Amino acid sequence: MKTQFTGKHVLSVAQFDRGAIEKVFLVADNMLPYALRKKRTQVLEGAILGNLFFEPSTRTRVSFGTAFNLLGGEVRETTGMSNSALAKGESLYDTARVLSGYSDIIAMRHPQEGSVAEFAEGSRVPVINGGDGANEHPTQALLDLYTIEKERKFHGEGIDGLNIAMIGDLKYGRTVHSLSKLLCLYKDLHFIFISPQELSMPAYICDMITNAGHKLTITEQLEGSFNADICYQTRIQEERFPSQGEANKYRGKFRLNQQTYTKHFQSKTVIMHPLPRDSRAEANELDNDLNLNPNLAIFRQTDNGVLVRMALFALTLGVEDKVSDFDRPV
Ligand code: CP
Repeated sequence: MKTQFTGKHVLSVAQFDRGAIEKVFLVADNMLPYALRKKRTQVLEGAILGNLFFEPSTRTRVSFGTAFNLLGGEVRETTGMSNSALAKGESLYDTARVLSGYSDIIAMRHPQEGSVAEFAEGSRVPVINGGDGANEHPTQALLDLYTIEKERKFHGEGIDGLNIAMIGDLKYGRTVHSLSKLLCLYKDLHFIFISPQELSMPAYICDMITNAGHKLTITEQLEGSFNADICYQTRIQEERFPSQGEANKYRGKFRLNQQTYTKHFQSKTVIMHPLPRDSRAEANELDNDLNLNPNLAIFRQTDNGVLVRMALFALTLGVEDKVSDFDRPV
């Protein structure tokens, strides 16, 4: 992946260097008129995406499908473990052998760590990881980084030198794992991790950050003033806790609303969240009273997800330079 995309799986952010990221972002930029329906392409006409989601999803699943449709391809989907033969004891290998005979590329989410890589071993077509348990969510990290780059550009700055605060469930939140790893590729960053000690960022990621020469601050309290350019809020990943009661101990601990945002962050701090945000009263980690705050980037993130996923499909299927050759009237 570091030099070539065509025919390769996308399983981890570890596959990407800065050159590969720049290539994805360049192709994503070129996808904008198609995503906005100002142009239409049939470059993937006749191609089929197998969209396999064995764990709940709204935006990742639908944006993968939308991205493939916007490139002219078709989507076949399965959702939920109980609706697939995995529930009858079929192995990931057999499932992969079978479904890769029906598709040109597969996007997959599964609750077990390492499951998408295991599936990819049996697949005859490229597989894109849509989230494997608490491990990784590489396409979310790419769209988050793409968003950070755009937001920073708006202020005339780049990603080098970024100050980023990540808040909440940093143990089970796979998006913060993948994003932290990608950010390690840049220079002179300051990571501020705010979480209960029990939900702290895995030690191997903290080591990766310090070994790459970045500054790292770890705290259990949302207290005082953080000189952060980005505030990346997360949901307590209750589905990964041993019990609901255990998750409830932490829900509602770090609430970001207009008042706490003003108290702890700068007036220009960009607010991000991978979504879904838990809007139930006992959690509400990102309040609706921030919805009109111009620094709230959460829906710019979701829009950018389509562009980045279109880019990954085009690159993986080797059509990134042919998209406009297949333009059709809108
Ligand atoms: N961000 C994200 O992965 O959202 P979904 O769970 O809705 O796909």
